[in-house]
Amino acid sequence: MFKLGLIGYPIAHSLSPWIHNRLLEEQGLKGDYQLFEIEPDQFDIRIKKLKEYDLDGFNVTVPYKERILNYLDEIDEAAEFLGAVNTVKVENGKWVGYNTDGIGYLTSLINRYPNVLKNAGKVLILGSGGAARGIYYTLLQKGVNQVDISNRTVQKAEQIIKELDGGSFSTPLTIEEAEQNIGQYDVVVQTSSVGMSPEKDQSIIDFKHIKAGALFSDIVYRPMYTAFLEKADSLGANLHFGHEMLLHQAIYAFEIWTNSEPDASNIMTAFEGKLK
Ligand code: ATR
Repeated sequence: MFKLGLIGYPIAHSLSPWIHNRLLEEQGLKGDYQLFEIEPDQFDIRIKKLKEYDLDGFNVTVPYKERILNYLDEIDEAAEFLGAVNTVKVENGKWVGYNTDGIGYLTSLINRYPNVLKNAGKVLILGSGGAARGIYYTLLQKGVNQVDISNRTVQKAEQIIKELDGGSFSTPLTIEEAEQNIGQYDVVVQTSSVGMSPEKDQSIIDFKHIKAGALFSDIVYRPMYTAFLEKADSLGANLHFGHEMLLHQAIYAFEIWTNSEPDASNIMTAFEGKLK
């Protein structure tokens, strides 16, 4: 019987219970996944209570991915490097923190485009929040050595490269520079919230040409087909959608808790239906 859940605020509309309950069912495992909505001024007291609740594991979302660090007994390397945790596994009463955002993103990308790492010559990340950090870290770990980052506040892109880069070839860019140079990139990953409903006509950058065969990816999943991806599609890009990352980062957490290996394709179609 797996006792799982999610902490965050607000989380009433989270898709995680649907995903994890479906994965439990799919794997023939007994258990449930509950929402623990915690108001910020209640955080410390509720977390102490949660310790007594005997969970097997839980996800952590906004705004607690950093704040949870103070309550962990151990932390895995990626999460430590990123300074943010989205998954906690309870092992013999110890809380162990992980971050599955970057690896979930990459797994979803490889799932759709198996040769992507071989062909990923130059990558551009748009945005510099937590998701950008996770994706940047994971791509460098997997040996992609030119991952440029563009952000409205370019200092934040500089900061990520400075903190995480082991002296490779990455460059911080302004949005204007990204727009001018977009035709050089094999993979372009949109990690900001721009384009999310209800502002679904917006795109973080404007572009009129792309490299032939380029892959464009957006982590926004509502709408599934963002203005950014629509534009890339009209220019002939290969596309990768935000809901694929969402599902894979969840599956990665599920694997950590249950040591099982669900096949994403078994629930992808139902998940897409759920998002519509
Ligand atoms: P998260 O941690 O969830 O990834 P975040 O920290 O709120 O999200 O980061 C959001 C990203 O979207 C940032 O890169 C932000 O740019 P700034 O650093 O300049 O704030 C970017 N962003 C949000 N709204 C934007 C807009 N209207 N135009 C351009 N970039 C935007």
